[in-house]
Amino acid sequence: MQPFERSDPAHDPTLRDPCPLRRLGHPLAFSAEEEDRIERLLSRYPTREAAILPMLWMIQDRHGWIPEEAVSLVAERCGVPPSHAYGVVSFYTMFRREPGGRHQLQICTNLSCQLMGAEHLLDCLRRRLGIGPGETAADGLFTLNEVECLAACEMAPVVQVDDEFHGPLDDRGLGELLDGLRARAAKEGRI
Ligand code: FES
Repeated sequence: MQPFERSDPAHDPTLRDPCPLRRLGHPLAFSAEEEDRIERLLSRYPTREAAILPMLWMIQDRHGWIPEEAVSLVAERCGVPPSHAYGVVSFYTMFRREPGGRHQLQICTNLSCQLMGAEHLLDCLRRRLGIGPGETAADGLFTLNEVECLAACEMAPVVQVDDEFHGPLDDRGLGELLDGLRARAAKEGRI
C-alpha cells in the first residue's frame, strides 16, 4: 500500500470534513452530536437560513455566550453572509455577545415582585453568590442581573435562570435552585 499525503482529501477523512473549525481542531467546532442536530434542523426547515436561531442557541447553550468566530461558522452553515448572522445576534437581547457566567440569573425587582419580597430575595442572592447585579461569580457559574418585569408576575418574586422562570422563590427555594445548578455543573465537569 502506498503511503498517502495528509494533504490528500481522498485519503484523509479530516480534510473532507465540512466544518472548517473542526478541520483546524478549533474548540468552537460543532461536536458530532451537534452536527446530527444541525442535519435534522436543516432537513426540517424549507431554507437553511431558517435554522439560524436554533444553531445560535446551540452555541450559547454550550459556551454560555456567542463568540464572533461562531457567528461566522453559523453564517457559513446557513448559507447567509456573516453580516446577516451578526444582525440576528445583535437584534435579540437574549443572545450574549460577551462571556459571562455559565448561567444567567435575572431577578425581577419590578412592582409585583417587589411587593412579594424581591428586594429580600436579591439580598439572599448577593449573600449566596458573593456578587451583586452586573457581576459574575468567581467560579464562572453565575452572572447576576436585576431586571424589569419578566411578564411572569404570577410567579413573583421570580428569578429567570437562562430561559426558565423560577418562582415564587424564598431564600430556601433559592438555595435549592443554586445547589441544583452547581451539582449539575459539577457532574458535567464544568466546575
Ligand atoms: S413584576 Fe416581576 S415578573 Fe412582573
